[in-house]
Amino acid sequence: MRQFTADYLDETRRGMWEDRRALDPLELGDADRVLDVGCGTGELTRVLAEESPGEVIGVDADADLLAVAADHAPVVAGDATRLPFPDGSFDLVVCQALLINLPDPAATVREFARVSRDRVAAVEPDNGAVTVDSSVAAESRLEGRARRAYIDGVPTDVSLGGTGTRRVFDEADLDSVETRRYDHERTVAPPYSESALSAAKRKASGEGLTDDRTTMLNGDLSAEEFDDLRAAWRAMGRDVIEQMQDENYRRTEVVPFFVTVGRV
Ligand SMILES: C[S@@+](CC[C@H](N)C(=O)[O-])C[C@H]1O[C@@H](n2cnc3c(N)ncnc32)[C@H](O)[C@@H]1O
Repeated sequence: MRQFTADYLDETRRGMWEDRRALDPLELGDADRVLDVGCGTGELTRVLAEESPGEVIGVDADADLLAVAADHAPVVAGDATRLPFPDGSFDLVVCQALLINLPDPAATVREFARVSRDRVAAVEPDNGAVTVDSSVAAESRLEGRARRAYIDGVPTDVSLGGTGTRRVFDEADLDSVETRRYDHERTVAPPYSESALSAAKRKASGEGLTDDRTTMLNGDLSAEEFDDLRAAWRAMGRDVIEQMQDENYRRTEVVPFFVTVGRV
């Protein structure tokens, strides 16, 4: 199972769901019992609890992340592929950025349908369609190259959002499937946050890329190409830090998420 840190989830979900219109098809106002599967630190669980009049429960396999999510809702340790609940226990079973991490997303969605008596939903990104716009000229190109190498080597479909999730819902025999796109935009601009400063340092040290080396080499990228990419990446990181020192650095990243809802 791929591991995530609370800091990573906090940073990558920053500002997400300030605009909640894409969640309208979940009919949260009309849900007495909601289950958030793979809830992590509870970034979506908190939104569900704010919007739904009923009980919201988070479930995850990672005890450290669950301890953070417990601030937002009751939580249960469990495996998404074998949920510890009887059939038809919830009005809505939902996940965010879970299916992209699983080897058999359709089997997991069938398990969601087993414990739901009405709706199943998934909020999944298309990581192949992420865009980056930066004041450092090389950043967008290098991030695109690193992203393609990662997607090529990762064993699950991290671009599943959009048509992929719809296909999975169809395979799981859900009815009335509907999908909405929601672009999550994150901007870095002065005054720079602690996490923006540490992200820049990680670029300049090459640390972030090194963490993904094994995955990238699983795909088409050779060790030599990885070293070249890392050298260019570190130079780009130094330019980011230099621009930050002059308060000239700006970066905007857009991650397209897709909200897919179906009925059992
Ligand atoms: C990318 S994180 C998303 C967390 C949260 N839903 C969010 O969007 O902020 C994926 C989460 O799925 C959990 N996860 C992965 N495989 C799982 C499984 N088989 N059963 C339960 N949780 C799982 C991980 O522990 C992690 O918390």
